[in-house]
Amino acid sequence: MDIVASAVDEYLAKLSVPADPTLAEMERYGYSRGFPIVGPQVGRLIYILARALGARRVLELGSGFGYSAYWFALAVGEGGKVVLTEWSKENADRARDYFKKGGLLDRFEIHVGNALEIAPRLSGPFDIIFNDIDKESYPRVLDVVRPLLRVGGLFMSDNMLWSGAVLSKNPDASTQAILALTKQLYEAPDFFTTIAPIRDGVSVSLRTA
Ligand SMILES: C[S@@+](CC[C@H](N)C(=O)[O-])C[C@H]1O[C@@H](n2cnc3c(N)ncnc32)[C@H](O)[C@@H]1O
Repeated sequence: MDIVASAVDEYLAKLSVPADPTLAEMERYGYSRGFPIVGPQVGRLIYILARALGARRVLELGSGFGYSAYWFALAVGEGGKVVLTEWSKENADRARDYFKKGGLLDRFEIHVGNALEIAPRLSGPFDIIFNDIDKESYPRVLDVVRPLLRVGGLFMSDNMLWSGAVLSKNPDASTQAILALTKQLYEAPDFFTTIAPIRDGVSVSLRTA
């Protein structure tokens, strides 16, 4: 199921002039290989939220070749830091190359391995944590995020509508995991959550306590 009607998606896509030449190159690379980057609509959303919050420190769980991280790197400004975690070294190396090409290497730190094992070894606090790891691990993410995210910070997760599979009467393991994180977030006394139905659904949760 398309979350956004394709005609509306096309309209939105036409509005998005490339924000940066390196980002445009990353989009071409991602689309040509069918790599699931968040794309320019979500990219603009996370950039706006990061800028509005004055975020200086961002952590990503599951960074791919650095497309969403690059949007955050633009938003945090000089002296800001985006910490990427990615279990493929090949993707991590490609992310480093793109950050270098865009002149943003000094805003970038990357750890190769399982994000859920790396994150607890990092020192917080972070202003934003963006989650895009393997979906079956989603129910474990919130416990990892809590000690690292400051009150007033944002936790965001991609694929929270999972091509509409969240409506399934017989959800598979990935969908059940997404539904579990959704329930955790909406019931959490220390987060206030919404899901923006952009692309594949992105949740935005404010850490309130
Ligand atoms: C959907 S892609 C991320 C795309 C990225 N957010 C973007 O829009 O540019 C998910 C990435 O997370 C990585 N990944 C999945 N599960 C992971 C985990 N548990 N720890 C670290 N990386 C993981 C995959 O190798 C993949 O590159």
